[in-house]
Amino acid sequence: MSVKEKSMEFTKFGEKFTAASGIMQLMDDLGNAIAVNKDMIMLGGGNPSHIPEVQRKLRRQMEEILANGNEFEHLIGDYDPPQGHPAFLETIADYLNQLYGWGISEKNVVLTNGSQTAFFYLFNLLAGEMVDGEKKKILLPLAPEYIGYVDAGIDEDIFIANKPNFEFIDEHTFKYHVDFESLAIDESISAICVSRPTNPTGNVLTNEEIEKLRELSRNHDVPLIIDNAYGAPFPNIIFSEIKPVWDENIILCLSLSKLGMPGVRTGIIIAREEITAAVASMNAIISLAPVSYGAGLALDLVRSREITRMSHDLIKPYYQDRAEKATEWVWEALTGTPFYIHKPEGAFFFWLWFKDLPITSAELYERLKRRGVLIVPGHYFYPGLDEEWGHKTECIRMNYTPEEQKVRQGIQIIGEEVKRAYAETRN
Ligand SMILES: Cc1ncc(COP(=O)(O)O)c(C=O)c1O
Repeated sequence: MSVKEKSMEFTKFGEKFTAASGIMQLMDDLGNAIAVNKDMIMLGGGNPSHIPEVQRKLRRQMEEILANGNEFEHLIGDYDPPQGHPAFLETIADYLNQLYGWGISEKNVVLTNGSQTAFFYLFNLLAGEMVDGEKKKILLPLAPEYIGYVDAGIDEDIFIANKPNFEFIDEHTFKYHVDFESLAIDESISAICVSRPTNPTGNVLTNEEIEKLRELSRNHDVPLIIDNAYGAPFPNIIFSEIKPVWDENIILCLSLSKLGMPGVRTGIIIAREEITAAVASMNAIISLAPVSYGAGLALDLVRSREITRMSHDLIKPYYQDRAEKATEWVWEALTGTPFYIHKPEGAFFFWLWFKDLPITSAELYERLKRRGVLIVPGHYFYPGLDEEWGHKTECIRMNYTPEEQKVRQGIQIIGEEVKRAYAETRN
């Protein structure tokens, strides 16, 4: 029975988490679309590419575990403590200290079953109804922001987001910046959160922007959550020079997923002890212990620092090369229209803006689906920004992770449909 047909009465929590959310409908639609058309060009999801050399290294890691005494039996046969795989926690602390001199210990590290789970914990720890009845919110200083945050609050309306400033880099390239002038932060805000690199735009907040956000959060005594799922030191899908930062006021979230391991569901939080202890308690209640498997598989990669080399020498160049090629294909396919591409600085998405497009991005999504190309319409990426704003329905997100030939063909079709849509006004 599907959730839509349910006859049982659920709690408020149950209703919220089983309601037909926009994202659930979209994911359903994406899944069904492939069932109907096996040749669908999938530019919609967030799966990392299967990079052969990376996969070979991960396979070797697994083979070593299997060959090494009873390591495999231990990895799958024992619960870890609620904070996660002890040797991995120590190794990650040592690794980050050596790289960045942060002076953290294993007590500043906690694992979760993917960083998506980390955000569910953190947002609900910090925002919603407080013990005294006050309502607190997470400030997203730059919308568009990651679609995965949208429905993560147990309480309603836990986000408030700020529209960006636009920098125009050339006739078809732009970049968002945090609009600090309009960034209002008051007593109702309990944390600030940014993804860097940003999903969906591929934006990387500048070091100056991060410094200003650090200052703001310090001055208002609220934590700054940095979602580093694509960032340094791993998987390092970041094409500009940035300075990774951490202090006791920052909650830094890392993940093994975009390294090529979304299946092992391993998120890593670096934070002050009060936060890591709280997350460990939530782990204990919700899942007893986080998955050991990802940490166990990655342990030697971190210990030997191979994880840095892999990220720097294989993963980053792979996506950077793809981004450069695909940018050319976008220009080829869309020249003659007032299109803009957000400067691709990291992650593996293009955020394409079709200025004054006569149809909405949702309609464009439908038309592209009929042509066998799946993307994500842009209006889903605005958690906490309810106001009407034309820009919200003029953008799409597409990934450039499938085989080159498919990405190129997909972009070609996007170009044809966008040109057709622009031509509609001229008639
Ligand atoms: C910005 C961002 N944060 C967090 C996640 C969650 O990743 P995971 O739960 O696989 O660690 C994703 C996944 O796409 C993401 O794009």
